[in-house]
Amino acid sequence: MVSVSLSFPLFPLFFLLLSASSSADSSLILQGKFLQCLSLHSEISFPIATTFITPNNSSFASVLESSAQNLRYLLPSVPKPNFIFLPVHESHVQAAVICSKELQIHLRVRSGGHDYEALSYVSLIETPFFILDLAKLRSINVDIKDNSAWIQAGATIGEVYYRISQKSNTHGFPAGLCTSLGVGGHITGGAYGSMMRKYGLGADNVLDARIVDVKGRILDRKAMGEDLFWAIRGGGGANFGIILWWKIKLVPVPPTVTVFTVTKTLEQGATKILHKWEEVASNLDENLFVRVIIQLASAGAKGRRTVTTSYNALFLGGADALLQVMKQSFPEMGLTRKDCTETSWIQSVLYIAGFPSGTPPEVLLQGKSTFKNYFKAKSDFVKEPIPETALEGLWKRLLLENSPLLIWTPYGGMMSKIPESAIPFPHRNGTLFKIQYLSLWQESKEKAMPHMEWIRRLYNYMAPYVSTLPRRAYVNYKDLDLGVNLDKEGSFIEASTWGSKYFKDNFNRLVRVKTKVDPDNFFRHEQSIPPLPHVM
Ligand SMILES: Cc1cc2nc3c(=O)[nH]c(=O)nc-3n(C[C@H](O)[C@H](O)[C@H](O)COP(=O)(O)OP(=O)(O)OC[C@H]3O[C@@H](n4cnc5c(N)ncnc54)[C@H](O)[C@@H]3O)c2cc1C
Ligand SMILES: *[C@@H]1O[C@H](CO)[C@@H](O)[C@H](O)[C@H]1NC(C)=O
Ligand SMILES: *[C@@H]1O[C@H](CO)[C@@H](O)[C@H](O)[C@H]1NC(C)=O
Ligand SMILES: *[C@@H]1O[C@H](CO)[C@@H](O)[C@H](O)[C@H]1NC(C)=O
Repeated sequence: MVSVSLSFPLFPLFFLLLSASSSADSSLILQGKFLQCLSLHSEISFPIATTFITPNNSSFASVLESSAQNLRYLLPSVPKPNFIFLPVHESHVQAAVICSKELQIHLRVRSGGHDYEALSYVSLIETPFFILDLAKLRSINVDIKDNSAWIQAGATIGEVYYRISQKSNTHGFPAGLCTSLGVGGHITGGAYGSMMRKYGLGADNVLDARIVDVKGRILDRKAMGEDLFWAIRGGGGANFGIILWWKIKLVPVPPTVTVFTVTKTLEQGATKILHKWEEVASNLDENLFVRVIIQLASAGAKGRRTVTTSYNALFLGGADALLQVMKQSFPEMGLTRKDCTETSWIQSVLYIAGFPSGTPPEVLLQGKSTFKNYFKAKSDFVKEPIPETALEGLWKRLLLENSPLLIWTPYGGMMSKIPESAIPFPHRNGTLFKIQYLSLWQESKEKAMPHMEWIRRLYNYMAPYVSTLPRRAYVNYKDLDLGVNLDKEGSFIEASTWGSKYFKDNFNRLVRVKTKVDPDNFFRHEQSIPPLPHVM
């Protein structure tokens, strides 16, 4: 009797221990083989202790977590990499690609770690995998005379802005608002920011690039050809090769710019004012970018919750000119001189990114994120103003959630002038604005599921008011609800659904490029562009 009840629980436990230790052995063997292979294929050696981080190293967790933005994907239940390799030389990236193929250990590449679904540091579909983390490849060479800069993939966009501003107060670059974004993943998915209405996206302002292709070769624009150069400027991360460097075109900025943030609650007529914004935001002067950040706040003595709409803006010019523009086009918001702050472009970067006023721009060199959360996000593009009654329904839904966040980004200006097929990013003329929906939570107190369900219901509610056929989405706001590649091959049929949402008709050209440059689908993830099946 006793022996039976003991041996039953013991047997599976014993079995588990056995298989755990043998898989630990095999990952040790794999790590050893990989190191050997890396040394063989690297032009210069690398300091193993600081570049090859295995789970037995006490710094493994901190390196894994260093740039990871979505805490949801760091929970213990989520698969972990077998090791993390941090190259310090281009040839180490080449070697990592070659060895990944040779030893059949799946590669995930990470630059800034801001992927919404953690595709740069987690694989839900393949084991074993490792992270190729480009954090140590972050050089920036600004050439003011040439109006250009070569920037390395592991640099943050904030460092890029800072280095430009150190050389000139009349040059800038039109990319993301959040300064800890890695330029490797960010620009290859589009890269919009507060100067998009004047100059387009980061990806619209790329002149050249250096990438490591599937064969481990380094290719510049000339060597890769115009098809591949087209695909990497907006086609999304980790599809065609590993970006080592971008050559970007600098754009002119005035020595004085103006910023403001004006907040309206429901009680202050937020709905009517927002409806007016929907009509005017994409037609405003191209020098003016007014986005809307929508959240909850408590109002009144009883702390009743209300919806707040914050108009957060950059104007490429002085306050007087801005007041003129606002008076003429959007008087309903009631902007006053007092709301306006005149400042330098680099200070406006800090302001829009949400740093407290007076923060020195050197903070950008830390590359630290101000946003690390458990979160789920989705995106939509809007082509007709959403009626006030629908906005009221939206407020009701927001009030059901703990920490909802909506960010509405105006289009128009240069965004409308660039043809849909110029680069893979297709959301151009006819787009009034983009909506980003987020729900944030604290895992220690709350579980993910109610928030995931809330945001999915909200997304359903919004369907009648946003783009259709396809309902579009921004590839840099990865959303696995739109579909995933379940196997190594990547199913073309499945992918065409989310593919057309992210890229519209450009998806077909992306598939053609993929088939040409990576027919065996080496660069793959849950939502990577699939190659067409081999013709036998
Ligand atoms: C807080 C926050 C704010 C954001 N703000 C903006 C914004 O203002 N504007 C905007 O456009 N987007 C914004 N985004 C979205 C952002 O652009 C994307 O998440 C982008 O992919 C991040 O790039 P990364 O290098 O930081 O991320 P990573 O997670 O490192 O990479 C993202 C994807 O690209 C791949 N990848 C990474 N490096 C390379 C490389 N060198 N070569 C090829 N593929 C690579 C990864 O494998 C992954 O699939 C924001 C995201 C967050 C979390
Ligand atoms: C950790 O793993 C590495 C590589 O597999 C191995 O060389 C090393 O001896 C291990 N260190 C410890 C402390 O176990
Ligand atoms: C762990 O990594 C640190 C730096 O990342 C290094 O200094 C140390 O030697 C490593 N330890 C082991 C046991 O590998
Ligand atoms: C944008 O589309 C509108 C009609 O939808 C058209 O009138 C306008 O000329 C287009 N603008 C550009 C720059 O193509």
